[in-house]
Amino acid sequence: MDLSTYLTQLRRDFVLPVAELKEISIAFQHAMAAGLSGKPSCLKMLPSFIALPTGKEHGSVVAIDFGGTNVRVLDAELDGAGSIQVKQMKRFPLIDQVAGHNFLNEKAEASQLFGYIASKVAQLTRPGVSYSLGHTFSFPCEQLSINQARLLVWTKEIKTRGVEGQDVGALLDTALAGAGLPGIKSDAIINDTVGTLLAAAYSKKDVDVASICGTGHNTCYLEPVHPATGAPMIVNMESGNFDGVTQTRFDKTLDAGSDRPGQQILEKMVSGYYLGEIARIVFSDMSMSGLLPKSENLANRQTLRGIDLDHIIEDAGDLSRTQEVAKRCFLMDDLSLEQRRAMKEVLTRIAQRSARLVAATFQGAVLHVDPALKSPHFIAIGGSLFEKMPGYSAWLQQALDELNPTAIGRVSTMLAKDGSGIGAAIAAATAVTERI
Ligand code: BGC
Repeated sequence: MDLSTYLTQLRRDFVLPVAELKEISIAFQHAMAAGLSGKPSCLKMLPSFIALPTGKEHGSVVAIDFGGTNVRVLDAELDGAGSIQVKQMKRFPLIDQVAGHNFLNEKAEASQLFGYIASKVAQLTRPGVSYSLGHTFSFPCEQLSINQARLLVWTKEIKTRGVEGQDVGALLDTALAGAGLPGIKSDAIINDTVGTLLAAAYSKKDVDVASICGTGHNTCYLEPVHPATGAPMIVNMESGNFDGVTQTRFDKTLDAGSDRPGQQILEKMVSGYYLGEIARIVFSDMSMSGLLPKSENLANRQTLRGIDLDHIIEDAGDLSRTQEVAKRCFLMDDLSLEQRRAMKEVLTRIAQRSARLVAATFQGAVLHVDPALKSPHFIAIGGSLFEKMPGYSAWLQQALDELNPTAIGRVSTMLAKDGSGIGAAIAAATAVTERI
């Protein structure tokens, strides 16, 4: 087979016409409705026990944002009149070869992970200030209240022992007491999508859906009348687990070799952690078909970093950056221009598919709350793909416009940078304000 025939087949697999996006959005709506009413569904539809902020939230807050390889700690103040001041914010790596720690692998224990986070909270808090605590914990949790959240299952290939099945609020509170902070206790635990929605809705009207398109992927929305309470509540859909999509043979290979085959099917097709992996699997297939050089490195997981993908996608002219990445990652020298073009096309198709699949799920969420699209809707989005990948945000908006040709401008995306940390602060202040 030659390169051009290979690429024609690849397009068949990866290009999603609008009709297919429509079908996906309908399947997504069905999964939402089923999950919400407690029927079996790939969407967990987890209640968050919080609605949109009013602006009246106030007080000193320490916020923790943990959802991947770093944890961020913020010291913030809400004035009760719609504004928030971040006094300090620091990021700490949970995997640090120089310091010699890895709190995320199968050897790490819950007490080490939460002990480390608590020690960082102790570093950032100012003596004499009474804090409420908001914790963005970006993994699927069953919430029993705003500050009780039991981790159902780790995602993003994290493996720390003793956390699954446990209340992360209790784990953190024990660690905080151990770090000499018995007065600080978890007041709110939220998902990062929920944090993103809270932060965006704090300063803008009509935001009712929020998503993370980064290392992981997930979306939440405001359910206007939640069946459990009859009141508005944000629902964390855990949409990365949506399975109403067609996997290519490359997706199936990736899934079979992942830590948890069969789970997080959508996330494995769209999120930053996996996009480079899908590309590596395609490149490996191309190499086996004699269309790219042989390379043992093609068997190594996580070789392509997010930044490599960005460089290739925006590469132009003689595609020298593509050559540089191919050499550094796969020791491939002297690729022909045709081969470089093929690599660029593979990555671009994979990334475009990601944006279009995500758009189809957004469409499902928006139509669930407003089937006739009577009102404007803003979808607040955080994460590296949306923020940094060249073309990604435009592909997403374009797919939404294709889905709503008669309502252009009704469903818009917006960047919500650092929303998950700010959202944790808003959630803690909300919980404390409501308790008073
Ligand atoms: C987690 C979600 C999270 C998303 C984005 C997924 O792997 O399951 O809870 O919101 O990543 O961080």
